[in-house]
Amino acid sequence: MDTILVTGSAGFIGSSLSIKLVHKGFRVIGVDNLNSYYSVSLKKDRLKEIIKSTKFNKGKYEGFNFSIENINELEKLFTKYKPKFVVNLAAQAGVRYSLIDPHQYVQSNLVGFHNIIYLSKKYDVRNFIYASSSSVYGGNTNMPFNESQSVDHPVSFYAATKKCNEVIAHSYSHIYDLPTTGLRFFTVYGPWGRPDMAPMIFTKAILSGDEINIFNNGEMMRDFTYIDDVVDGIVGCVYKSAESSDNFNRDKPDPSISFAKHKIFNVGNGNPIKLMKFIELLELSIGKSAKKIFKPMQTGDVIATSANINKLSDWIGYEPKINLTEGIGKFVKWYKEYVRI
Ligand SMILES: NC(=O)c1ccc[n+]([C@@H]2O[C@H](COP(=O)([O-])OP(=O)(O)OC[C@H]3O[C@@H](n4cnc5c(N)ncnc54)[C@H](O)[C@@H]3O)[C@@H](O)[C@H]2O)c1
Repeated sequence: MDTILVTGSAGFIGSSLSIKLVHKGFRVIGVDNLNSYYSVSLKKDRLKEIIKSTKFNKGKYEGFNFSIENINELEKLFTKYKPKFVVNLAAQAGVRYSLIDPHQYVQSNLVGFHNIIYLSKKYDVRNFIYASSSSVYGGNTNMPFNESQSVDHPVSFYAATKKCNEVIAHSYSHIYDLPTTGLRFFTVYGPWGRPDMAPMIFTKAILSGDEINIFNNGEMMRDFTYIDDVVDGIVGCVYKSAESSDNFNRDKPDPSISFAKHKIFNVGNGNPIKLMKFIELLELSIGKSAKKIFKPMQTGDVIATSANINKLSDWIGYEPKINLTEGIGKFVKWYKEYVRI
């Protein structure tokens, strides 16, 4: 049974990923500090779902509650479990909050990130996979975004930390021959989602008859990506890195292929839609209209995101399966059941 360390395992993406990995027969070692950036009870409920999943599958899950800034606790896990793969999802997420409390981003996204990559190198993990973000494309207007575009102009501090992660990972791959894979997620949505993101904020407000704020007067576009497709993308990278010979050749480092050991991929849906269309689909699914308040653009936000997903498709055969109507339906069904409205 292969062991995989997943940080941020009580998070939106981390919990769904952990369930999938348990299902696939991995021994998952989860780390999360259960911080109160949003509902701690939602994080605990996600952890319960992971534990439930271990009852019906051959994989295992063991969870630990501490911060990835704590390198001593982290090292104990590396020593004890010797994970073959690491997926680092723990981070302070959220573009807008990074304007309010940048220190938190420095701690989790930079200090914590470096602890994990440092230990991944020290304990020879097969691949260090980590969450980057579509926000690294900043104000790029050349759509769809592809991985060879310049990402030197972040427009939020959150994006700046994600860009730093990519640069640090590149240096580790180059210096130490550590295989690293950065995944630029595009607006992930679905069951067990994040209360600070638009799908949950809008659904809650529509159901309770409250107003919703629509920034930049609705002139926004997002490449909404369903959670199961994102998880399939991550799992595909785990399997691919297990089989790729170019990924793990630390005995004979070849400087000419060191770039190949640091890979970056967009993980999107490849089908961006206007925010107003997204709200319309939500209204249809909920069966109720939103009370819309139009507001100007907010600092840190980008007007549009759109993913070119060819690179990941070529590497692992990534192919998003859930379209927006279906995905929104699944999300609204989950929300109503979970919140019991
Ligand atoms: N959800 C998206 O649309 C999206 C888009 C782009 C990138 N990402 C990135 O993907 C990753 C996962 O995102 P998510 O939506 O699941 O976010 P999330 O906030 O739901 O999950 C992150 C988890 O990490 C934990 N955490 C935060 N800081 C920690 C620390 N210092 N030590 C230990 N645990 C810590 C939190 O408690 C949380 O449970 C993040 O790195 C995020 O920046 C997400």
